[in-house]
Amino acid sequence: MVMELGVGIVGYGFIGKVQTYAYRSLPMFYDVLPFKARLVGVCDVNRKAAEQGMEQAEFQCCATDYHELLKRKDIQVVHCCTPNIHHKELLIAAAEAGKHIYCDKPLAINAPEAREVLAAVRKAGVKHQMGVEYRFIPAVLRARQLIDEGFLGRVFSFRCQYLHASYIDPNRPLSWRLDRKVAGGGALLDMGPHPIDMILYLLGDYAGVMALTETCIKDRPVVDESGRRAAVEVDDIALLQVRLKNGAVGTIEASRLATGANDELRFDIHGSQGAISFNCMDPNWLSAYDCRDADAPIGGRRGFKKIETVQRYPPPATLPVPKQAIGWMRYHVASVCDFLLHIAQDTPTCPSFEEGARVNEIIDAAYRSSTEGRWIDL
Ligand SMILES: NC(=O)c1ccc[n+]([C@@H]2O[C@H](COP(=O)([O-])OP(=O)(O)OC[C@H]3O[C@@H](n4cnc5c(N)ncnc54)[C@H](O)[C@@H]3O)[C@@H](O)[C@H]2O)c1
Repeated sequence: MVMELGVGIVGYGFIGKVQTYAYRSLPMFYDVLPFKARLVGVCDVNRKAAEQGMEQAEFQCCATDYHELLKRKDIQVVHCCTPNIHHKELLIAAAEAGKHIYCDKPLAINAPEAREVLAAVRKAGVKHQMGVEYRFIPAVLRARQLIDEGFLGRVFSFRCQYLHASYIDPNRPLSWRLDRKVAGGGALLDMGPHPIDMILYLLGDYAGVMALTETCIKDRPVVDESGRRAAVEVDDIALLQVRLKNGAVGTIEASRLATGANDELRFDIHGSQGAISFNCMDPNWLSAYDCRDADAPIGGRRGFKKIETVQRYPPPATLPVPKQAIGWMRYHVASVCDFLLHIAQDTPTCPSFEEGARVNEIIDAAYRSSTEGRWIDL
C-alpha cells in the first residue's frame, strides 16, 4: 500500500528550492516507491519568497509563519531550510506537532541546543534525518562498503576538506552567514558539518580535537547604502587535527577562502592494506589503491584505480541509467528519498539527529580548542 506523505518546506531560499526540486522529482527517479510525496505547504518569512515557492512548485498553500504548516493534518513531514538560528525553535515545535523532520545541516547552532532538539524528537517519537547529502554519492556509498569489508586494513590517517572560494572578495557584503547571531558560527559551523559528518560516517566516532580557526578578512561592507564596513564576527577558515576512537588520526579543513575551489568536498584515507581518495568535483569515480596488487614486474598492476561508481545507485533508483554522469542535485534526491522510505517502512533513519547532535558537539569542542589552544577530548 502506498503511503501519502504531505511535505511542508520551511525557508524557500537556496536550499529550500533545491529540496523542493528533490521532492518533486522523486517519481521520475524512482518508478516504484512505497510512498507518494505531495508538496502541501511552503513557508518563508519573506512573503514574496513563499508566494514564489507556491507558483514555482505548485504547493497547495503558503505562509509566512511556520505554525500555519504545523497545524495542517495533511502535512506529515516538515523540512527545515531556514538560517541556523531558527532551527531549534522550528524543530522542537514540529516534533511537538507530531511531524517527521528533515533538517538541512547543521542541526543547531551549538551542542546544548542540539540536545534540546534531540530530547524533543525522542519524546515525540517522530522520524528525523539530517540533510548531509554527500553521504548519498555512489562513490561515497562504495567507499563505506569497502571500509566495512576491511579493504583498507587498519586505518592510519586521513584528510578531509570542504573548500569554497565564496568569500575571497573582501568587498563581498556581510550576509547572515557572517552574522554570529544568525549563523551561530563561521566556516566551521556552516561548512564543517559536511567533512566532520563524512569522517563520522566512513570511519566512526571522534575521541579528540585540536583546532585553529581564523578570520582573515576582518571587515566587510554592510548591506545598505551607507558604504560603511563592519567587523566580521565569524571564522573564514577552520583547521582541525582529530583523533578517532579507532586510533586513526587525521585533519579536517573547512574554508570559504580556498581560492580556485568551487564546491570541493574531498578526502584521502590511508590504511595498512590500501587507500581511497575522492573529490566531489569529479564525482563519478572513487580512487582506490590496493597494496595486495602485485608491484612487479616494473610496478605490476599497483597504483590508484578509478572505480566507476558513476550513478550506480542500488534499487529502487531507476533513472537516469547507471552509466550516466552524476551531479549535486541527485544526492539531495537520494537523501530525501532515503528519509521518506524510512518513514514508509518504519525503519531507523541515518544520519539521524543523534549524528547531527554529535557533529554539533565536535564543532563546539573545536571552537573551544581554538580559543583555549589545547586538545579537547570528546
Ligand atoms: N545541505 C546542504 O548542502 C546545504 C546547502 C546550503 C544551505 N544549507 C543549510 O540550509 C539552511 C538555509 O540556507 P540557505 O542557503 O538556503 O539560506 P538562504 O538565505 O538562501 O534561505 C533562507 C530562507 O529562509 C527564510 N527564513 C528566514 N527565517 C525564517 C523563518 N523563521 N521561517 C521561515 N523562513 C525563514 C529566508 O527568508 C530565506 O528565504 C542553513 O541552515 C544552511 O546551513 C544546507
